[in-house]
Amino acid sequence: MPEAHQTAAHEGGPRRLLALYPTRGRTPLKGLYLSHDLRGCRQGGRFYCYTNFIVSLDGRISLERPGGSPEVPAATANSRDWRLLLELAAPADALILSGRYVRQLAAGRAQASPPFQRRDPDDLTRFRAALGLPPQPVLVVMTNHPDLPLEALTRERPGPVLVVTSASALARRAPSVTPDGVELVAAGRERVEAPRLAAELDRRCLTLVYSIAGPAVLYSLLAGGLVDRLYLTTVLRVLGGDDYATMTRGRLLEPARDFRLAALYLDACGPGAVEQLLQVYDKIPAGAGQGAAI
Ligand SMILES: NC(=O)c1ccc[n+]([C@@H]2O[C@H](COP(=O)([O-])OP(=O)(O)OC[C@H]3O[C@@H](n4cnc5c(N)ncnc54)[C@H](OP(=O)(O)O)[C@@H]3O)[C@@H](O)[C@H]2O)c1
Repeated sequence: MPEAHQTAAHEGGPRRLLALYPTRGRTPLKGLYLSHDLRGCRQGGRFYCYTNFIVSLDGRISLERPGGSPEVPAATANSRDWRLLLELAAPADALILSGRYVRQLAAGRAQASPPFQRRDPDDLTRFRAALGLPPQPVLVVMTNHPDLPLEALTRERPGPVLVVTSASALARRAPSVTPDGVELVAAGRERVEAPRLAAELDRRCLTLVYSIAGPAVLYSLLAGGLVDRLYLTTVLRVLGGDDYATMTRGRLLEPARDFRLAALYLDACGPGAVEQLLQVYDKIPAGAGQGAAI
């Protein structure tokens, strides 16, 4: 999300949301996702993972930019969605990022810094402090190329970084010194496997985990049954274009992963005053779905 979009207005006032489900009414945007008590979602303190995406009406999460890597389209990125992303990061123990993103950040081509790396809204910093959390969530980087320019992550505000990779990538890695504050761990043979990733995070008491990565990471998390909640912003704009990137990609997920609608809001103040739908979906555990009755 472009950083220029990060500081614009997102306050309540006339720009309130219309809550549509499960209850109806007006509600301010600011504080909406903070009120979801994500830390309380961990039943018995068990591992809980959530993610979010912003999509166009035709399902695009990103577009190629000329001569560069793909990014969230300017036509969908907006400050209100960014505010919500920060609110989702505020209670997290850890944020999952991709190795690809770290390389992009180091090359100065990332759309934004990770939340809580630079200056974020004071109310969110206070929110973390009131929960007794450290100032920054641990940054968890999923990669098959662990020789990453990690100073791109630690330069702004040094905080803990956990690089999670595969055993084969670790074995291929040239011997080098791991920077201070960075831990390197293998969780899978050829790729990072979600259940082993969860075990590594759980072992470090990182039990509330927010993935801000893209389609490949999401695929691994879904395949491993790790995604408990999906936050989805749909901007009511059709983008078209020849390249197509959707929320996830990979081999068919069999069985398909099922979710149920937990909440729905209409925001009349999306990008260019176009509406956007804010949706919250909760995982239906495998085998718990019901056949459709007519
Ligand atoms: N619209 C939205 O809400 C939204 C959200 C997120 C991202 N995006 C867009 O999606 C695009 C890709 O973003 P992204 O790079 O963050 O996401 P990604 O496609 O999930 O990440 C790809 C990288 O993650 C690593 N990776 C993923 N699964 C792995 C596994 N099982 N084991 C080991 N490494 C694994 C690899 O890193 P290495 O190459 O280092 O091995 C891979 O290159 C960007 O254009 C971004 O703007 C859009």
